[in-house]
Amino acid sequence: MSLRLGWLAEVLGDSPTLKLSSQAKELIRAGEPVINLTAGEPDFSTPEPVLEAARAFLQQGRIGYTASAGIPELRERVAAQYTATTGQDYAPSEVIVSNGAKQVLYNVLSILLNQGDRVAVPVPYWVTYPAQVAALRGRTVEIHPSRGWKVNAEDLARDGAGDCRALILNSPVNPTGAVYDRAELEDIASFCREHEFFILADEIYEDLVYTDEGHVSLVQVAPDLRHRIVRITGLSKSYAMTGWRVGFGLAEKATIDAMTRLQSHSTSNICAIAQHAALAAFDCRDHVARMREAFHRRRDLVLDGLDGVPGVRVDRPDGAFYAMLDCGDLVADLPAGEGCWRLASSLLEHQKLATIPGKPFGAEGCLRLSFATSDDELREAVQRLRVGLQEFAG
Ligand SMILES: Cc1ncc(COP(=O)(O)O)c(C=O)c1O
Repeated sequence: MSLRLGWLAEVLGDSPTLKLSSQAKELIRAGEPVINLTAGEPDFSTPEPVLEAARAFLQQGRIGYTASAGIPELRERVAAQYTATTGQDYAPSEVIVSNGAKQVLYNVLSILLNQGDRVAVPVPYWVTYPAQVAALRGRTVEIHPSRGWKVNAEDLARDGAGDCRALILNSPVNPTGAVYDRAELEDIASFCREHEFFILADEIYEDLVYTDEGHVSLVQVAPDLRHRIVRITGLSKSYAMTGWRVGFGLAEKATIDAMTRLQSHSTSNICAIAQHAALAAFDCRDHVARMREAFHRRRDLVLDGLDGVPGVRVDRPDGAFYAMLDCGDLVADLPAGEGCWRLASSLLEHQKLATIPGKPFGAEGCLRLSFATSDDELREAVQRLRVGLQEFAG
C-alpha cells in the first residue's frame, strides 16, 4: 500500500498553459509542421551585456550564497530604477529579488493570507493566481468586468472585493493584453481608498505597452496607497530573461522583511550568477524598445489578419504579447466548459496550430494567442486560423 500524499498534492493541478505549450513543442520535435501560438515568453535572446556580465562573474570562480533578499547592488539598482520610473522614492530595503515574479507573488500571498482569507482576482486571470491562493488555503473571489476585459470600481464593489484581504491587479493583463490607463486606475484607486486591503500590482509586462500614454503604475496614480501596494515585476518579459528567474517585489520595508524571512527558509537567494547578470539589464533599454516595436508590429499583423472572421470578436490588445479571441458564438451549442477545448484541439489537429483555450483563465469560449513568434509564422498562422475557425463553424 502506498502512503497518501498531503492535501496540497491533490489540490494542485498542472499549469495548463505550460502543459499545452510543451505538448506543442513535442509535436514540433516529432517533425509536425505545428505553429506554436502558446508561448508565454519573448522569442528574443537575452541582451548581450547581461550575458557578458554573467560570463565575467563566472570567471572569478567563487559562486557563493548571497543575502536572501538579493545582493545589495541589485536592490539598489532596482530601487533607483523604479524611483525614476514611478516618481516614488524606493529605498533598497523596500526591494526583494526572488525567483521570478512568480515567487514574489507566492512570498507575498504567504505572508498576507490566513486560512480562508479572500483574494479578489479580476477575470480573466493568469492561471497561477487562483492556484497560489488555493495552495495557501485562501479563496479566490472572481471579479467580472461588466464591459470589455477590464474591471472598474463598480465591478469590484458588486463582486465583493471590499471584503477581501487583497486585490490582485495585473496590467498589462495576461491573457488579454488589456492595459489599465490612468483614468481607469484612478477609478480603481478610489474604491481601494474605501477598503482596507493590500493591492498586489502585477506589472511584469510593464515595458510592453503600445499606447501613447504607455504603462501607468498604480503607485503613480495613488501614492497615498503606497503602504499597501506591493509591486510585482521583474526581468522575465521586458528583457527576454524568463530562464534567469529574476523577479522583483517593491513594498513597505516591513512587508519586504517578512517576505525575505520566508524566502530565507524556502529557497534562499536566487542564483548568484543571475543576480550579477541582472545588474546589466537596466542599461539595455534599446533592446527593450526593439522588442516592444516588434510585438507592436506583430499585434497589428495578427489583428488586421483576423478582421471580419465571422463569429469571432477580439479587442486590440494594448500591451503584452497576447490576444484573446472571443469565440463564444462558435461554441455556443457545445456543452458548457468544453467549447474552447474542442476548438483548440480542432485547430491543432486540422490546422497544426497550437493555441490555449480560455477556460483555465476563467474565459469560457475564448482562445489565447501569443504573438511571441516570427512575423512569417504569424502570417501563416493567421491564414490557418481563418480557415480553421470557418471550418469549425461548419
Ligand atoms: C501576469 C504574469 N505575472 C507573472 C508572471 C511570472 O513571471 P516570472 O517568469 O518572472 O516568474 C507571468 C508569466 O507568465 C505572468 O504572465
